[in-house]
Amino acid sequence: MPSAPPPKTFRVKSFGCQMNAYDGERMTDLLEAQGIVPAAEGDDADLVVLNTCHIRERAAEKVYSDIGRLVKNGDAAGKRPLIAVAGCVAQAEGEEIMVRAPAVSMVVGPQAYHRLPEMIEQASRGERSSDTEMPPIAKFDALPGRRRSGPSAFLTVQEGCDKFCTYCVVPYTRGAEISRPFKDLLAEAERLVEAGACEITLLGQNVNAWSGEDEKGRPLGLDGLIRAIAALPDLRRIRYTTSHPADVTDGLVAAHGEIDKLMPFLHLPVQSGSDRVLKGMNRSHTAESYLRLIERFRAARPDLAVSGDFIVGFPGETDAEFAETLRLIDAVGYAQAFSFKYSSRPGTPAATMSGHIPQPVMEERLQKLQAALNRDQLAFNQSTVGKKCAVLVERRGKLPGQWLGKSPWLQSVWFTGDHAIGDLVEVELVEAGPNSLAGRVLRPAAAAA
Ligand code: 5AD
Ligand code: SF4
Repeated sequence: MPSAPPPKTFRVKSFGCQMNAYDGERMTDLLEAQGIVPAAEGDDADLVVLNTCHIRERAAEKVYSDIGRLVKNGDAAGKRPLIAVAGCVAQAEGEEIMVRAPAVSMVVGPQAYHRLPEMIEQASRGERSSDTEMPPIAKFDALPGRRRSGPSAFLTVQEGCDKFCTYCVVPYTRGAEISRPFKDLLAEAERLVEAGACEITLLGQNVNAWSGEDEKGRPLGLDGLIRAIAALPDLRRIRYTTSHPADVTDGLVAAHGEIDKLMPFLHLPVQSGSDRVLKGMNRSHTAESYLRLIERFRAARPDLAVSGDFIVGFPGETDAEFAETLRLIDAVGYAQAFSFKYSSRPGTPAATMSGHIPQPVMEERLQKLQAALNRDQLAFNQSTVGKKCAVLVERRGKLPGQWLGKSPWLQSVWFTGDHAIGDLVEVELVEAGPNSLAGRVLRPAAAAA
């Protein structure tokens, strides 16, 4: 690979989950700390980081086609960018990428991106490098402080997964569960608030498996961390995602009734309503135990909005088992949810199970499932009409004077007036659609949570 001048501009393109979005932000901080600046909109960047996702099919193919496009555009412009492949595809298929895509000069796994600066130096000398090691804490220690933040910020508190659901690649791409230390998290949360965040979403593949110790060495769970972060005076809202039913503690349930800044929203994936399918998935809960958990959360916080993840067409899933998932949906009444067709991931136990479901059957089940979820989402939105709540202003709308923000229940709310991004505006929810609501402003920039 020929040597190239050190890059002056960069672009990070993140795919997939919120943790990847967080990683993308941290890589941005890291590159900016090196004096490399984000490429202007529409300009070619000297360095492109593809921050990839491997959770479902075709992710790798998409990466190769993105690389192809970058090479083609670069050649047309007379200057190829340096290309780094980061994220979970890098972790899972790093070696193959190095062989198949000579235009890629850096392959960097999710636990190694703090090494990007030295890899960029190597790339400028014309050397290719790959790092998919997994010493997770090293990464966080080596990253620069957060200097900028929008009103709503992510904070990774836990990474990796030990649950080994049989369909899922995450335990292989992100490694074992690790928790970042309490004092580092408190410090990062403080910096985020100073940098302008008024809402922090605590992130983890199994965020509620977070554990740590406070300053006095006392053990803490996620609820303890939430309590400590809630004590930051200028922070207004806390959320967390994604939780696993097996790691829900009494303390976390109680926190929903006790901490005002903790928003009334819970993302608790269930995947299926059939106990046989759940067992095949190695989910360690039943439909019934999941429903009981939701009841406990709702007893602590009656207005809780519940969200979930679903997979249709897991190997061997029968029509009757799929119907059990629809029944579970009816029983919960989700405020929103994510649903996917099962996607066979090489190397996972489910990939070699018998009874793979034909695509048209999966498609039909997905449509039925989504029809039920959409119905419930609209019903939930309608049930909040008439409520008065604070909305965190996130961006301007298309029309003059129009703004978009988030309700406590994570709904998108439209309203008008003279506001600023980051304001908490007191509104009455007046009209509900399937994906958003209209709000009537009662008090601009309210001193409400
Ligand atoms: N196929 C389909 N969906 C999957 N998910 C994880 N792995 C797969 C797979 N192999 C979904 C699960 C998980 C969400 C993040 O992605 O629903 O909760
Ligand atoms: Fe994947 Fe299951 Fe771990 Fe979630 S809990 S990341 S679905 S293995």
